[in-house]
Order: sequence, then structure tokens, then C-alpha cells
Amino acid sequence: MNSDLTSATRDRYKTIRWGVIGAGGIAAEFCSDLAHLPDHAVVAVGARKSGTNTEFADRFNIPHRHDSYADVVNDPDVDVVYVATPHPHHFDAAMLAIEAGKAVLVEKPFTMNAADSRLLAEAARARGTFLMEAMWTRFLPHIVRIREVIESGRIGDIITVTAEFGEQFGDESPRAFILDEGGGALLDIGIYPISFSAMLLGQPSEIIASADLSDGGVDVTTSVILRHESGAHAIVNTTMLAGTPNGANVTGTLGRIEIEPEFFRPTSFTVVTAGTGERERIEIPHVGNGLRHQAAEVGRCLRLGLTESPILPLAQTISILETIDEVGRQIGLHYPPRTPSAP
Ligand SMILES: NC(=O)c1ccc[n+]([C@@H]2O[C@H](COP(=O)([O-])OP(=O)(O)OC[C@H]3O[C@@H](n4cnc5c(N)ncnc54)[C@H](OP(=O)(O)O)[C@@H]3O)[C@@H](O)[C@H]2O)c1
Repeated sequence: MNSDLTSATRDRYKTIRWGVIGAGGIAAEFCSDLAHLPDHAVVAVGARKSGTNTEFADRFNIPHRHDSYADVVNDPDVDVVYVATPHPHHFDAAMLAIEAGKAVLVEKPFTMNAADSRLLAEAARARGTFLMEAMWTRFLPHIVRIREVIESGRIGDIITVTAEFGEQFGDESPRAFILDEGGGALLDIGIYPISFSAMLLGQPSEIIASADLSDGGVDVTTSVILRHESGAHAIVNTTMLAGTPNGANVTGTLGRIEIEPEFFRPTSFTVVTAGTGERERIEIPHVGNGLRHQAAEVGRCLRLGLTESPILPLAQTISILETIDEVGRQIGLHYPPRTPSAP
């Protein structure tokens, strides 16, 4: 890219202007954390039904209130669309935004399966638009530091990764128990330890999964062994029946990293040296809920004229969904085929 183009792109994106599709729980947390980024603003929000997003728009002082998702993606003041609908509806909303030529950040899981994620990636490449999965954990400051520690060679070659995400889902999460609505622990929270393992070890060469399914056919507890060509193993577990400690450990030939209390939210971590057992706690002070770091990455990429994040490229999002597809196949998780959502 030449320097003129870079400066024109920078000027265009002085403020990154967001449009929100799916103004629910996580969208509210996202908008609230975006307030920590002075060069980002939420300028538009859309809802499926007329007038239902007024409270959300008032709460976050959002000037453009649209009565359809199509109006959000066609809003000329929107640079990037944040898709925060329930997972079976990510594909249609993301495709709508890509076809309108907008940059898009799509909540996790990106799509219900790898095939749909490939279609989105192809569409974005054909249109030349930016596209990224909103796997916010990958951009958290402690995860950035952990990648640096590993790249420095301090813990040697990674031999094992263990990570879990267990939370007790109850009446406040009815969707989690309904197969047609993309329910189940694997897609909702199991994706976090799988993505963490993929960040460190890449795509597994062998997958062994076991799960307990509900009467309605969603996985309530799932455990997976991921074996890699390097010889490294990851063991990941997820459940929506109980709150597990949710830490993670990365063990190498020269030492290990212990992340607690919850590896996927802003936290600190400890590096333990093999042999001596010396422990260094690496404190990472943090304000806010951590959802803004992925937005900052979107802004950084747009200003550089990139259509993918090098930290979470589409190939890795697709590969994570391939792993999830295989886990789903082994445990007998059968989601219905995608049906088009209303624009
Ligand atoms: N990154 C994270 O930490 C995190 C945390 C929680 C959830 N998530 C992800 O974010 C997505 C949304 O989760 P959420 O908990 O925010 O959901 P939510 O509170 O139920 O909100 C989803 C919004 O999507 C819209 N929507 C469109 N089609 C819908 C449908 N058929 N049924 C229900 N709502 C529909 C609704 O907005 P309108 O009526 O205004 O159109 C609704 O308010 C999920 O894919 C989930 O995996 C991520």
C-alpha cells in the first residue's frame, strides 16, 4: 500500500463509526466498553421491529435509530457493522453488511458451522471488505502479553494446554437449551477454550470428544482432547450445568503459564520456571469489561487498509469452526439447516 492511500484511509477513519445489529445483552456491554475508546463511536442501531431500540439508543446516546437491519448496513455514516444477534442469525446479518460494502465484526460463534464461515469469508474477499470474528479474548491485554512470553521462548516448546469454560445457565438463558436457536455449551462457551488452544497450537491433527446431551439435543457438558502434529495436546472442557474455575494452563519444556481466575476475561497470570519452581506474577491492570480491545483491532486494521486481522485471520476462525464441526459430529450435535432471517 502506498503512503497516500494510507493517509487517506487514516483520515477517513479518524473516528471509527459503528452500527449495531442485535441490540441485546452483549451489544450493550460492547457499547458500554467502547466509551473507553475516544476515537470510536456508535452512530447507529437497528432492530427487527419498529421502535423497539429506543431505550438502547437513548442509553448509549446513539443518533441513528433504524427499524431494520438493512437500514443499518446502508447507513452512509456507518463504517463498521457489529453483528450481535443470536448465533443462527449471524450469517444473514453479516452477509447483508458485506454486500453493502461495510466492514463487519461478527459475534462468536462466527457462524453455526465452517461451511457458512467460508461463504462469509469468500463474500468479504470478493467485496474487498474487512471481516473478523468478535473473539474478544484474543485481544485482551493479558493474552497479548502471554503471546509475547511464549514467543520469547521463556516456557520452551508447548507440550500441553488445558482450558475450561463452565457456567450454570438457568432461566435467564432459555435459548441455550434450544437446539433450533443454536443452544448448547460448545458453541456458546466451549468455543473459548477451543479458540485459545487454536491460538497457541493451530489446527489439531486428531480430535476426541465426549459429551452429555440434553433431552432437547443440545450439549450440556463436553470434553475434548486436541492432538497436534507438534506432539502437543490440549484438553478442553465446557459445561452449562455448573460454574467451573475457568482458568487455563500452558505448559512448555522450560516452564508454564497459569492464568486465573478466568482466562477469557481481563486478568493477570503467573509464569512458573521449570526446575526451580520460581513464580513471577505478571499483573495487568485493567478498566472496563474488555470488549473494546477487539474494536480497537478493527480500527487499527481499517486504518491500515487491511481486510483481515493478522491476530485473528479468517482462516483461523474457519479452522476453529472445523474443529467444532468435528466435535459436534462425534457427540451427535445436529443443528437444523440455516433458514434465511428477515433483513
Ligand atoms: N463476546 C461475549 O462475551 C458474548 C457474551 C454473550 C453473548 N455473545 C454472543 O452474542 C450473540 C448475542 O447474544 P446475547 O446474549 O446478546 O443475545 P440477546 O440478549 O438475546 O440479544 C440478541 C439480539 O438479537 C436480536 N435478534 C435478532 N434475531 C433474533 C431472534 N431470532 N431471537 C432473538 N433475538 C434476535 C434482538 O434484537 P432486536 O429485537 O433489536 O432485533 C436481540 O435483542 C450470541 O451469538 C452470543 O454467542 C457473546
